[in-house]
Amino acid sequence: MSIFVIGGTGFIGTRVIPLLVARGEQVLCMDINPHTADFSALGDKVTVVRGDVTQFDDVISRMHASGADRVINLSYNLGAELPPHLATKLNIIGMDNAFEAARILGIKHTVYASSLAVSGQQSHFGERAATEDDYRYATAQYGVHKSFNEFQAQDYVAKHGMAITGIRPANVTGPDKVRGSVDHVNLITQPARGNPISFPFADAMRCPIHVDDIAEVFVRVLLSDKPKHQIYNSGGHTTSLGDIANLVREFLPDAKITFDKPTGGKDTSGNYLIDNTRLVSEFGVQYLPYRERVRQIINEVRAQEGLPPVRG
Ligand SMILES: NC(=O)c1ccc[n+]([C@@H]2O[C@H](COP(=O)([O-])OP(=O)(O)OC[C@H]3O[C@@H](n4cnc5c(N)ncnc54)[C@H](O)[C@@H]3O)[C@@H](O)[C@H]2O)c1
Repeated sequence: MSIFVIGGTGFIGTRVIPLLVARGEQVLCMDINPHTADFSALGDKVTVVRGDVTQFDDVISRMHASGADRVINLSYNLGAELPPHLATKLNIIGMDNAFEAARILGIKHTVYASSLAVSGQQSHFGERAATEDDYRYATAQYGVHKSFNEFQAQDYVAKHGMAITGIRPANVTGPDKVRGSVDHVNLITQPARGNPISFPFADAMRCPIHVDDIAEVFVRVLLSDKPKHQIYNSGGHTTSLGDIANLVREFLPDAKITFDKPTGGKDTSGNYLIDNTRLVSEFGVQYLPYRERVRQIINEVRAQEGLPPVRG
């Protein structure tokens, strides 16, 4: 089988593509930055071409050339800094280009990345976990655009009978993450490099999921023919920045991590209690313990710095 991956040379895509190849798939990746990833170890199983998701001609011509029967769109702007016109082109028109090309070409299953950001602040849900059926409270550009993507996917499914599935990753973590939510990542990678780091509130809450785990989620859902639902929360490990700091200190007792205040961040944290029952029961995913992932990230950073691994 052949898979068309849009935005595949980024943080998550570079983990998704090798997993697809390991399952015997042929991949054509289209990215506006085709040279930021090296898939040479995967030989002729992966081809990367330059293409801009905001240009419908690029999307449909590359998708057609791929001969794919499955498509995944990971291209997006992870942030809220873009002017509205540019953000709309990439996040809204780009996603629609992927859906429309998939419709015209009769693609069997299309998967796209939504985000936990659609849920907005945790305070909307009190102390309970948000589900996929809850109201979407996003108010910032990124989350509102993801929320519209979910509506648009639902509209294509209703009007054209397509199979389109959205995954809402939580706060994805990994040693090379540089875009999106990065405080919970820097809290691990900076001490691993021996650098001091400081944050406003120890009780600020996050829901990290390792990039290898979210890549596995995307691949399982993409390779299924017709998932039972149109949207799946990934969930992750609910934790505070203070608790992540304590974990880091277990491996790096001299880590220089400071917080301005012990409290004050929880009430303004984004959604961090997330119900992923749907995903777990249908796709049987299991995430490695977060402590293991923290150690893995520390050791990957230390290896880059020429330092010995930590144990524990
Ligand atoms: N990383 C996270 O924590 C996280 C959390 C929730 C959701 N997501 C979603 O997962 C998806 C992948 O995230 P990521 O962390 O890999 O992001 P990333 O920024 O590392 O990767 C995005 C890729 O899209 C490409 N791209 C950007 N503009 C493009 C264009 N006009 N045409 C073609 N390609 C273009 C980039 O070159 C990049 O390779 C995104 O939709 C993101 O919103 C990520």
